Amino acid sequence: MSEEIVYANLKFQDSDKKENLQTSDKCGGKVPSAPSYSQHKAVLILTVLCLLLLIGLGVLGGLFRTTLGTEMIKSNQLQNIREELQRNVSLQLMHNMNSSKRIRKLSAMLQKTATQLCRELCKNKPEHKCKPCPKGSQWFEDSCYSKLGMSETWQVSEMLCSSRNGSLLKIKNRNVLEFIKSKKLKGYWLGLMPRTKKPPYEELNENMFLSAGFEGSTYDLSNMYCGYINGGYVYYSSCTSENYVMCVETARTVQVESVLDDLPEGRN
Ligand SMILES: *[C@@H]1O[C@H](CO)[C@@H](O)[C@H](O)[C@H]1NC(C)=O
Ligand SMILES: *[C@@H]1O[C@H](CO)[C@@H](O)[C@H](O)[C@H]1NC(C)=O
Ligand SMILES: *[C@@H]1O[C@H](CO)[C@@H](O)[C@H](O)[C@H]1NC(C)=O
Repeated sequence: MSEEIVYANLKFQDSDKKENLQTSDKCGGKVPSAPSYSQHKAVLILTVLCLLLLIGLGVLGGLFRTTLGTEMIKSNQLQNIREELQRNVSLQLMHNMNSSKRIRKLSAMLQKTATQLCRELCKNKPEHKCKPCPKGSQWFEDSCYSKLGMSETWQVSEMLCSSRNGSLLKIKNRNVLEFIKSKKLKGYWLGLMPRTKKPPYEELNENMFLSAGFEGSTYDLSNMYCGYINGGYVYYSSCTSENYVMCVETARTVQVESVLDDLPEGRN
């Protein structure tokens, strides 16, 4: 029963609505004034809003484009600065490399000049303090030649020279050969390999010193023959006999300051 009532009510409401619609349709043409005005107003407001929105969008777009533009310009500028910096850095590096090369060249030249100057000074003052050789040694090329002023067996002589960080007299090139010949040494041991058989005397030359070194202490030298210099010749005698000792040591590098100290004062 109650269900029917609800249905009826619904039906009634429906028809009521339809009637309302019909009346408003009928009235549409007759009374347009009040609703039309508000509709226009709404449309106007909407249009204005739309326009404002468009303008806003336009402004935003413009702003965006301008910002994008400036950002791009900035990033380009940054890129350019970066490239310039890279160029500058590599130029600087090259410059530094050139400078250090020049400095190396200059110091090599300075060293050479100081050495030459030192040689000249030593000619006049044999004990000049720029001298890169021990006292009593003779400086030739890059070596010092020292007479030890005693007679010893070959092995002891070799040991004495080792203790001076040197070796028994050796001739490493033609210039040294001429230098040694000019000294007319008699009876000085040479840094030659001891031999098991006594060789005949031979003319002194630089090539006889090219053979490998000799481990003196590991051999029994009592039955071996060692070479000594006699003028421009090499003779051999028992290694246990005694001869004079001359050592060759590497000359120290000439200290540039030691040469400069002794230069005459400037013009004033
Ligand atoms: C690069 O070097 C030039 C010339 O030395 C200088 O004028 C310029 O400012 C340097 N650039 C930078 C980014 O440091
Ligand atoms: C470095 O030296 C080279 C040649 O040695 C030269 O061409 C170059 O210009 C130099 N660079 C600088 C930065 O001095
Ligand atoms: C030999 O060389 C060593 C190390 O190179 C050094 O300590 C020593 O003083 C030198 N001896 C002589 C006599 O020059």
